[in-house]
Amino acid sequence: MAVIGFFDSGIGGLTVLHEAMKKMPQEQFLYYADTDHVPYGTKTPEEICRYTKEAAAFLMEKGADILVIACNTATSAAIHLLRAELPIPIVGMEPAVKPAVTKLPDQKILVCATPITVEGEKLHHLLETEHASPENVHLLPLPELVKWAEKGEFSTEVIVPYLQERIGEQNYAAVVLGCTHFTLFRDSFQKILGDDILFIDGTNGTVNRIKSLLDDRCGSSREESTRVRYYRSGREILASDDIAFIETIYTRLNTLDEYISQKEITKL
Ligand code: DGL
Repeated sequence: MAVIGFFDSGIGGLTVLHEAMKKMPQEQFLYYADTDHVPYGTKTPEEICRYTKEAAAFLMEKGADILVIACNTATSAAIHLLRAELPIPIVGMEPAVKPAVTKLPDQKILVCATPITVEGEKLHHLLETEHASPENVHLLPLPELVKWAEKGEFSTEVIVPYLQERIGEQNYAAVVLGCTHFTLFRDSFQKILGDDILFIDGTNGTVNRIKSLLDDRCGSSREESTRVRYYRSGREILASDDIAFIETIYTRLNTLDEYISQKEITKL
């Protein structure tokens, strides 16, 4: 059995943890949300590096065998430092541009992320490597969504006008959700981008990567039940209201997954 330490600036990484718990029901998980410093997307890379290193040290101290940076922003700013300094495997996340341009060559793709990720060298390097043309692949920073997600504000009445204003009138075939918080807003994105829009995010790729690391490390010895401990900037989350909020995020994800996949099935 391995202990997998998840990290995000806030609740965004729960979108990845949720999938990981489904696919790896016998592992143990730690989840660290840096709610004292969220949002990261408008901080400096230096600040993000400092916070991310603190969180990584905390998770290692708590016994993490693998570290998952379930945050595109922290990956963009800090993964090179973590990989250079820490002795455990580290899985990062970056906007899923590669599957998007491979699946939809010559089609219009919207890549949404935080300002830090959009401006970061890492994403520009990825776009270059994947030969993503600026005519087809559009980058859009969306700084507000993270704040709304942290407050539990997902209502389409609030979110849709903001997305409408930011996205404008474009005919996209796919949207790359390059921030783990954005997966929670798929219903609003769909209202703007249409029922046929394809959502592409890094969730499945990340979970598959963790699984392959586990297969390499642990063979098939696993414990019986999922266990997860949540931390908020280093303090364990135990209050029932806070746990209930996390549960509402999982419920929202289940509802969105069902709604989006039903649409996919209807289209076939
Ligand atoms: N969830 C983080 C990401 O994937 C975003 C965070 C933030 O701005 O705090 O980029």
